[in-house]
Amino acid sequence: MKAVILAGGTGSRLKPLTYWTNKHLLPVGSYPMICYGVTKLRDSGIRNIVIITSRTALGGFAEVLGSGRDWGVSIMYRVQEEAGGIAQALELARPMMAPNDKFVVLLGDNLFEESLSPYCKQFDQQTDGAMVLLKKVEDPRRYGVPKLDEASGRIIHIVEKPEFPPSNYCVTGLYFYDTKVFDLIDGVKPSRRGELEITDVNNEFARNEQLSYGELIGWWTDAGTFESLEEAGRRLKGAIS
Ligand code: DAU
Repeated sequence: MKAVILAGGTGSRLKPLTYWTNKHLLPVGSYPMICYGVTKLRDSGIRNIVIITSRTALGGFAEVLGSGRDWGVSIMYRVQEEAGGIAQALELARPMMAPNDKFVVLLGDNLFEESLSPYCKQFDQQTDGAMVLLKKVEDPRRYGVPKLDEASGRIIHIVEKPEFPPSNYCVTGLYFYDTKVFDLIDGVKPSRRGELEITDVNNEFARNEQLSYGELIGWWTDAGTFESLEEAGRRLKGAIS
C-alpha cells in the first residue's frame, strides 16, 4: 500500500508561529511534526509516500526528510500552489498512483498512538469504496462528525463542524481509498469557504453505501491548535526510534 501525507494549508489557527514556517515543520517533542507521520507509516509497512505541500515550504521538507532514504522510505513531493482544500491537495497525488493502487491518506497534523497495520489489512480486504478512522471525542464540533449505521458497519453521512453533532465520534485525518476517489474529487464543487472538502468526497462514498470505518482506541490528536500542539508535544517527547 502507498501513502499520501497532506502537509499544505495555511496553519491559520497556529499564527503567529506559522508566519515563518509550515505547521508540519513545527517542533513536536524533539522532531518536526512531519517525522511522526512518516515513521508511523513506515512502521505500518508502507514504503512509498507522496507528500503534498506548499511552494514556500517544500525546501524545509526536503531538508528534513530528503528522498526518505534515512527514514527507511521513498518520498516524492508535489506542490499545492494555493490552499484550495484537502480534496484539492489529494488530487495532486493522482499521477503517482497506478490504476489498481490502494492507499492511505494522512492529514499531516494528525498524530496518534496506534499502528496502522491492522487497518491497512482491513482495507485490503474491502473490495471497493473507502474507509475512514474514527475517534470518540468529548466535543466533536470542530471536526467532521459521522452518523453511523452500526449494524452494517457503514457511515450514513458526515457533517463538517456541526453545531449539533450526530454522534460523539470525529472523523480523523486518516482515510483509505482506491483510485476511484480521484473521479469523485472531479465531481465535487467548492464549499462556501471556497475549498474542495474531503467531507463532500467521503459523503459521495457514503451515498453509494461504500464508506466503512474503523475506530482508533489509543490516543489521537490533530495538532492544529495551540492546545493540541502542546498535548502532542507532551505525548511524543523522545518518541521516535
Ligand atoms: O483532523 C481531522 C479533521 O481534519 C476532520 O475531522 C475534518 O473533517 C477535516 O475537514 C479536517 O478539518 P480541519 O479544519 O482540521 O482541516 P485543516 O484545514 O486544518 O487541514 C487539515 C490538514 O490538511 C492539515 O494538515 C493541512 C492539510 N491541508 C489543508 C488544506 C485546507 C492541505 O494540505 N491543503 C489544504 O488546502
